[in-house]
Amino acid sequence: MGLASYFEKKGDAGIVIFAGKGGLGKTTCSAGLSHYMASKRARKVLCFSTDPQASLSDIFDRDIFGKGQVRVIPNLDVVEIDADRRVADYQAEVKQKILTMYGLSELPTEIEEYIDSTSAEPAMYESATYDAMADLVSTSGHDLYVFDMPPFGHGVRMIAMAGILSKWVGKITEAREKAQEYEAVAATLKGAKISEDEVLKELQEIQAKITRFTDLMVDQRRTSFFMVLIPERMAILDTERALEMFDALGLQMAGLIVNQVYPAELADAKGGEAVEFLRNRTRMQQKYLDEIRSKFAGKVVAVLPMYPREPRGLDMIETVSHDLLFGPAF
Ligand SMILES: Nc1ncnc2c1ncn2[C@@H]1O[C@H](COP(=O)(O)OP(=O)(O)OP(=O)(O)O)[C@@H](O)[C@H]1O
Ligand SMILES: [Mg+2]
Repeated sequence: MGLASYFEKKGDAGIVIFAGKGGLGKTTCSAGLSHYMASKRARKVLCFSTDPQASLSDIFDRDIFGKGQVRVIPNLDVVEIDADRRVADYQAEVKQKILTMYGLSELPTEIEEYIDSTSAEPAMYESATYDAMADLVSTSGHDLYVFDMPPFGHGVRMIAMAGILSKWVGKITEAREKAQEYEAVAATLKGAKISEDEVLKELQEIQAKITRFTDLMVDQRRTSFFMVLIPERMAILDTERALEMFDALGLQMAGLIVNQVYPAELADAKGGEAVEFLRNRTRMQQKYLDEIRSKFAGKVVAVLPMYPREPRGLDMIETVSHDLLFGPAF
């Protein structure tokens, strides 16, 4: 089933996530699908990324990075979150909270250093991405959200993280609730009135937000997860691993997109050295395409050609969107 018929059947609102190893075509596919849904299906679309390389700015040929929602064509808004800034804002907020909570004028050095050191952790970056995604989905009012996953990892981890994060916040909330019960008893015994627990309130809010978003991400009626690969060995192995992870989480991959496929006729092209090079590359690809066909039968929703130049600008994005939605599948 091709991508157009997939959305025909499923409806074209909700969340679409493009994942896959670095540099294989997530951003290209995100732009293509967003463009199609906005221009041909009149959906209000938000296309989102946290890539520090500002790759959506690059493909849409507009300065979008860190600028909030930018409208690129009617119905299509694009957001590129500056995750580093978001992490820094978050750290400043945590510091301020600690100061207020304990009535300090200055943070102890160790605590300050500890908070600063957390920005080097990849998990921090991922959770900033996650947080920004959750905020947008709950407040921006679009029909369709297209998430272009950042270049590290392949995005499948994000889904697994959602469940872990939710459980973890749940445990802390529980512990805090217990503590508050004891405090209340102690306060009653002393005849004092217990003040409202700000920390607990905040934890409960965070948990509610995460749970709402996690439920949405794993709800297969609302969220479709696609993986982009190319006809090469490493990409195939990585896709197999991702599919196994998905199985283990009890989730289904909505489909695979095979990108950067050389024209088949090059496999028999005659000519000098340069042609021989292309012929060999194409034959290698065909071997891996056969492998993809047998390993991932029925899962490939689109096959995109290798374009003669980098897809960039609205005209090229439109070409991609056509190939993505109406091209071959197997
Ligand atoms: N089918 C194609 N034909 C030609 N060039 C392509 C094709 N698909 C992608 N590219 C080019 O390959 C590069 C990587 O593509 P893209 O940015 O979409 O990948 P990505 O998965 O988003 O990468 P990252 O993991 O770094 O975010 C880009 O320069 C893009 O223009
Ligand atoms: Mg990208």
